[in-house]
Amino acid sequence: MPIHHLTNSWILETDHTAYAFGLDSGGRLVNFYWGERLLSPSDYPTQASSQNWASFSNAGQLAREEYPAETGLKYIEPCFKAYYADGVRDTVLEFEKAEVQGAELRIHLMDALEHLGIILHYRLHETYDLIERWAEVTNRGETAITLERVLSAQWHLPRKRSYRLSHLYGRWADEWNIKREALAVGKKILESRRITTSHHGQPWFAVDGGTANEEQGEVWFGALAWSGNWKFIAETTEFGATRLSLGLNDWDFAWRLKPGESFSTPAAIYGYTHNGYGEASRRLHDYTREQVLPNGKTLRKVLYNSWEATTFDVDETSQVELAKLAAEMGVELFVMDDGWFHGRKDDHAGLGDWWPDEKKFPRGLKPLIEQVNALGMDFGLWVEPEMVNPDSELYRSHPDWVIHFPQRKRSEARNQLILNFACADVQDYILEKLDTILAENNIRFIKWDMNRNASEPGWDTAPGDPRELWVRYVQGVYRVWGILRQRHPQVTWQTCSGGGGRVDLGILRLADQAWVSDNTEPTARLNIQEGYSQVFPACTMEAWVTDMGSEYLPLEFRMHVSMCGALGIGGHLVNWGAERRAEAAKWIARYKEIRPVVQFGDLYRLRSPQQDSYSALMYVSKDRKEAVLFAFRTHQPFIPQLEPQAPVYPRGLDPQANYAVEGYEEVRSGLGWMRIGIELFLEDYQSTILHIRQVE
Ligand code: DGJ
Repeated sequence: MPIHHLTNSWILETDHTAYAFGLDSGGRLVNFYWGERLLSPSDYPTQASSQNWASFSNAGQLAREEYPAETGLKYIEPCFKAYYADGVRDTVLEFEKAEVQGAELRIHLMDALEHLGIILHYRLHETYDLIERWAEVTNRGETAITLERVLSAQWHLPRKRSYRLSHLYGRWADEWNIKREALAVGKKILESRRITTSHHGQPWFAVDGGTANEEQGEVWFGALAWSGNWKFIAETTEFGATRLSLGLNDWDFAWRLKPGESFSTPAAIYGYTHNGYGEASRRLHDYTREQVLPNGKTLRKVLYNSWEATTFDVDETSQVELAKLAAEMGVELFVMDDGWFHGRKDDHAGLGDWWPDEKKFPRGLKPLIEQVNALGMDFGLWVEPEMVNPDSELYRSHPDWVIHFPQRKRSEARNQLILNFACADVQDYILEKLDTILAENNIRFIKWDMNRNASEPGWDTAPGDPRELWVRYVQGVYRVWGILRQRHPQVTWQTCSGGGGRVDLGILRLADQAWVSDNTEPTARLNIQEGYSQVFPACTMEAWVTDMGSEYLPLEFRMHVSMCGALGIGGHLVNWGAERRAEAAKWIARYKEIRPVVQFGDLYRLRSPQQDSYSALMYVSKDRKEAVLFAFRTHQPFIPQLEPQAPVYPRGLDPQANYAVEGYEEVRSGLGWMRIGIELFLEDYQSTILHIRQVE
């Protein structure tokens, strides 16, 4: 029984962790424990006092509240703030009741004066050692309520320790940098205000006591399943307490909740491990593959993408030429990127007009698709449904459909504006256009791109508060995408936003894989992939070999980097020449052999490329019968011959079983290989893949 109910307290147990909370002596819902699973329910603390001990250090300020609302003498970051019709901006949440249904606990809280109900949902994912939580707010009164902040969760870390926060930051073409920094008194705020998850940060955190590493140490971690504006706050008080909050960004946020209506926050997923960052990632990977992704157990195909080869200059002849070469190399899915639709010569025109360009494709897309299919490949297409160029038929007929303030200039980025996906007619128009393309053509893959962020966030026809735009827009995208997914189940979907600008556990309920960055230079890609892997599994990580880096990196190195994820090719195959294509074909064949282990195995990051110019990682199959180890050396300062490079120590093998490592004669136990390591000598810009197999 994973949920224990004791008097006024609840203990949520997963296979190895526990989370306990309950009512304190003042009736507040407070956290008692978050950490390793203990031996019995009586081991957990189940009480807290709500004593004031100074006029300036009130109990509310100090309490470890599960879902603090803005009220009383406390100056901490609340989860909830509302503005009521009677002018009150204070919410007093009292415990009403608790319900347990299977693996879900619901705690009902209520502000009786303002007739506001909040249900805190906790859903246990026991085998993943994760808990999902979200809040559902209901207006039970007779007047509208304006919600000003509704976060998904607040967590409290054990007291009297110092903590270190790990998070991801970046920018376009440089996403997924890992930052580890000590949390000091005050607040560390991370957020997106861009209407997407953004290249600049990720709604994910991992907090440790300062000494955790990939294998060891306590790590408390979490992520938000949301693809729009988000906010993370790590607040360390003068009393040495650290609380973490995560949810929708309250910046420029408001939501008018009419009588009888409810508002649900996105879910936050969180966990604890004492086995370091590596284990935290593996928990998220398994959960994402098995609980979030629509088809997490389907192998991702090797794809070819035309973007870096032909950019906007696509037509039937050029694409068929590329497709023939791709098919010869063993590619399974041919994706035509940008440039195929009405009026699209460059990035100044066409977005919004989702039908084939009459000059480039006078016979429509069908003949191209048929030829691609005849070559034995599936066909995929690029779209950017949320966008419109002012130079388009759509914008000329509906200039009012974009996000804008009518009185103000509309800032363009990449010569485009954003369609207001909060509006039903915009959603329906796009739905109809994409539906038609998918119904009329044998399309098996859609790359859904999004190439700018929001500005002038006006919505003058909003039925409620115009600031609902930020949330309703994302809900609109989810709606359109969800309907298309349902109507066209044969399609695999990729999320892209100028690279990795919209990857999160929300969009991965709709998208099967993600374009991680527009930066395909392989040495940069090693860093990008390491950062991405903190949260997301390899099967979602589309990785193409393009022409970037080809002047100084061997093809083998470039292929190896991309073989760490869902392999794709994006170079100009005509220019590659027969020899390079033959070599790439060999690597594609090799990838197909190891792909089940890469895409479905457990990831062990052995040496960080963000910290070391000699990096390594490995994937181990779930039954531990085989593993694939990748090692890369970029540039290292001269190492004298007598000082060998340190061995790479594999991890995740069955200590008792025997393993043979490709290229090495000796057979050792898993324990032996993990303790003795594998001596690997790599020159600058050399890389290797070692297949490791269990033997009798
Ligand atoms: C940005 C994407 O990240 C690229 O891969 C490519 O699809 C371009 N957009 C096309 O405009």
